[in-house]
Amino acid sequence: MRYSKTFIPTVKEVPADAEITSHQLMIRAGLMRKVASGTYAYLPAGWRVLRKIMEIVREEMDRAGALEAPVPMVQPMELWQQTGRDIDYGETLGRFKDRHGRWNVLTPTAEETYTYLASRELQSYKQLPVNLYQINLKYRDEFRPRFGVLRSREFIMKDAYSFDADEAMLDESYHKMYDAYCRVFRRCGLEYVIVEAESGEMGGSGSHQFTVPCANGEDVIVYTEDNAHAWNLEKAPVDPPPKAPAVEVGPPEAVHTPGVGTIEAVCEFLKTTPPQMIKTLIYTCEDQVLAVIVRGDHEVNGEKLTQLLGGRHVELADAATIEKVTGAAVGFAGPVALTGPVTLLVDHAVAAMAVGVAGANKTDYHLRNVVPGRDFPLEGDHVWVVDVRMAAEGDTYRGQSLRFRRGIEVGQVFKLGTKYSTKLGAMFLDEDGRQKPCLMGCYGIGINRIMASAIELSHDEDGIIWPISIAPWEVMITPAGSEAEVVATAERVYEDLSARGVEVLWDDRDLRGGVKFKDADLLGLPVRVTIGKKSLAEGHVEIKLRREADRRAVPLASAADEVARLVNDLKAELTAEA
Ligand SMILES: Nc1ncnc2c1ncn2[C@@H]1O[C@H](COP(=O)(O)OP(=O)(O)O)[C@@H](O)[C@H]1O
Ligand SMILES: [Mg+2]
Repeated sequence: MRYSKTFIPTVKEVPADAEITSHQLMIRAGLMRKVASGTYAYLPAGWRVLRKIMEIVREEMDRAGALEAPVPMVQPMELWQQTGRDIDYGETLGRFKDRHGRWNVLTPTAEETYTYLASRELQSYKQLPVNLYQINLKYRDEFRPRFGVLRSREFIMKDAYSFDADEAMLDESYHKMYDAYCRVFRRCGLEYVIVEAESGEMGGSGSHQFTVPCANGEDVIVYTEDNAHAWNLEKAPVDPPPKAPAVEVGPPEAVHTPGVGTIEAVCEFLKTTPPQMIKTLIYTCEDQVLAVIVRGDHEVNGEKLTQLLGGRHVELADAATIEKVTGAAVGFAGPVALTGPVTLLVDHAVAAMAVGVAGANKTDYHLRNVVPGRDFPLEGDHVWVVDVRMAAEGDTYRGQSLRFRRGIEVGQVFKLGTKYSTKLGAMFLDEDGRQKPCLMGCYGIGINRIMASAIELSHDEDGIIWPISIAPWEVMITPAGSEAEVVATAERVYEDLSARGVEVLWDDRDLRGGVKFKDADLLGLPVRVTIGKKSLAEGHVEIKLRREADRRAVPLASAADEVARLVNDLKAELTAEA
């Protein structure tokens, strides 16, 4: 490709809303432009990268036996109502009414539609297993789109859905996808960590996330110091702390804390510290009311809570419910003397406390000298002592210290079980003559996120350093001057390499060398050929890898051979088997 015939509008200015490197470089290198908050237009060079990623994903899905079979992006709301996800997704779900008054969903993912398809098309065990996938635009009305395409409202996702007859078959489908994901990320040149993840309300039985470790990631990976276990933050289990030695204290004592609601404010007011506070949050799960009790310095883990309740939908209670069970304004809930049928979920760390300060269930009051087990129960019918908090610095798992690291989730695999097939009637006739719901799995990869994470992992102050497998082109030819001989040589090398199937961008623009070199660094193609008047007079061209500082003079006669060899070596580093 001649530079003058494509469209790569590089810019010096970084837009104010581009907070992180990958976003800045994608704009500066002329790969994409923002259209509105969380939506982007791709320019030709950026689209070439996405096409390459999609092609790698497609090859690996096909190799794993999945079948490409896209479903509509605009989906009937009724399907979403049948699974209840019209409500669970809340405002993140994009929806509109068509001219006939029917509600539609802009697909954020597609379990419903594939399960609907399966309910029509799969009748017999003989048709199983089957795994269908698509690569297309998804829409999620993210509350806070940010970091460019890392969290956008519109993004490209590969999503696959497997249908199996039994657990063993599902296991196999799942592992095929898991292996395919390893191959995809390796081929894209990404360093990644696989962590155990919670399967959310999906009602599934297993999930892994593929995460690219990187300081700008929104996710937190937790792993044991011996590296034997890794989880996402929502899944990471913690050991119960040792029980604090008992202390002699009088009965709970109410203290007036007017208008002091937050943990920090109470600590300040009562001269205590968050680890000595007992925090009570009221939740509802269907018609059950729950008081979740954690230490003042700990956070409730919503995923653990969901799993403790068997994958049912749990949410923070509204003010009316809180006032009803505590008899107080919001902000003064405590575990002592709650009214009404409330289930207590006491975190291990609270059960291990000798004494603490808690809300008094009375507006503007707290209680001192609250002793877990004495002043509120740690056993009984409606009391569970459980692990329901986020892991934090200082925690251990089976005695191993937990470590924390940020990362970007680029893909996730889930075992869904029968949640969707039951609700949408995806049944099959099994070998034993019985009707059974299909066992399902679902598998997502964020195509744009792969692009952005590759840049996060590999760049320098001058620009992007692409892994060759997803670079917009493999080789950049930059004539340093505009002398006739230099231009003619550049064109010859360009033709020669193109004829060998190497993807070359030839900077044929009539610009100063310095400008072209800056653009070349910014765009970051892995192999660079520079042709200048002086070296040409000595019969040489200069070859350089973008990731290395070294430049080498190579005789013109062998330049194309040498470049082709470098391209092949770089590609060989990124095979799935490497
Ligand atoms: N808002 C977004 N912008 C870009 N990519 C996204 C976004 N949301 C999800 N993805 C990508 O799609 C993949 C599958 O999404 P999924 O696991 O269903 O979403 P989530 O992790 O948000 O629950 C994710 O691993 C991620 O790579
Ligand atoms: Mg996910």
